[in-house]
Amino acid sequence: QSLTHLIQQLPKAELHLHLEGSLEPELMFKLARRNQIQLPYADEAALHQAYQFNNLQEFLDLYYQGTSVLNTEEDFYDLTFAYMKRIHADQVIHTEVFFDPQAHLARGVSLETQLRGITHALAEARHQFNISYRLILSFLRHLSEEEALNTLEQALPYLDQIAGVGLDSSERGQPPEKFTRLFARCHALGLKVTIHAGEEGPAEYVWQALKLLNAERIDHGNRALEDAELLIYLAQQGIPLTMCPLSNQKLCVVPELDQHPILQLLEKGLCVTVNSDDPAYFGGYINDNFQALVNHLPVLPHHIYQLCRNSLIASWMDPSEKQQAL
Ligand code: ADE
Ligand code: ZN
Repeated sequence: QSLTHLIQQLPKAELHLHLEGSLEPELMFKLARRNQIQLPYADEAALHQAYQFNNLQEFLDLYYQGTSVLNTEEDFYDLTFAYMKRIHADQVIHTEVFFDPQAHLARGVSLETQLRGITHALAEARHQFNISYRLILSFLRHLSEEEALNTLEQALPYLDQIAGVGLDSSERGQPPEKFTRLFARCHALGLKVTIHAGEEGPAEYVWQALKLLNAERIDHGNRALEDAELLIYLAQQGIPLTMCPLSNQKLCVVPELDQHPILQLLEKGLCVTVNSDDPAYFGGYINDNFQALVNHLPVLPHHIYQLCRNSLIASWMDPSEKQQAL
């Protein structure tokens, strides 16, 4: 089919991807064996069987459990390189990836170890596959602002490797306003800011991310649709939304993919993009997410063009890189 062909061949950027969420069951078991860690599943099939979620928190519980196999520099290298190799097949020419340092610091894995593995793999992939990248340090919103500030202090020696910061994990009851001081500090350090908001939380959390945390992008943003004034603001300011269709389906953010708001938002003039979030858990990488939209919504070729173009526009590439990509 021609839309499928178009999806496969168009150059694109991925802007919403958690490296820990790209840990495939096969690699999880391999790293568990290598590190002599016991997983609470008999095999890969049993693990995969457990990937059924009613909400964000049920997913996060398994996601953090999965990170227990990531302990050495080599583990972070293998995780990151496998993702880069996989997206090369999807015509991704640029990717901006999140990692959750606090999840690993809590297990005694140093930031140095995490970053060495991740950045070596990213650099090797740029060399082998010609994929450019940015790395985003994401703070866990279920933890305190104090703990996040402490993590930021630990990251200061490595800021040359980190383009920006994010905020993820459990959204309900964890408003952006809780982290106002943290993101003011990040801003002063010259870091870019992108915030998960409006996935399960209300449109008000999107406003807070924009007004209190100075977010340049919003990750998910589904519930912006409930606030007409917010939609106008997002469109006028050109604030991108990094949407994740298969994630939304698996976490019951939308009842069915045919109810996904992405085309409505695109037609209202918002800079929306398609991304995979946690592909190992949600059943597909970026092109699978495009294909899922095609399978459930009245997607036309010009939508695919615009979504791919938006991903390049919304990226944090340097202006000259961006010019060339566009
Ligand atoms: N961490 C990994 N994936 C996430 C998501 N979809 N929402 C919030 N935190 C996450
Ligand atoms: Zn996410």
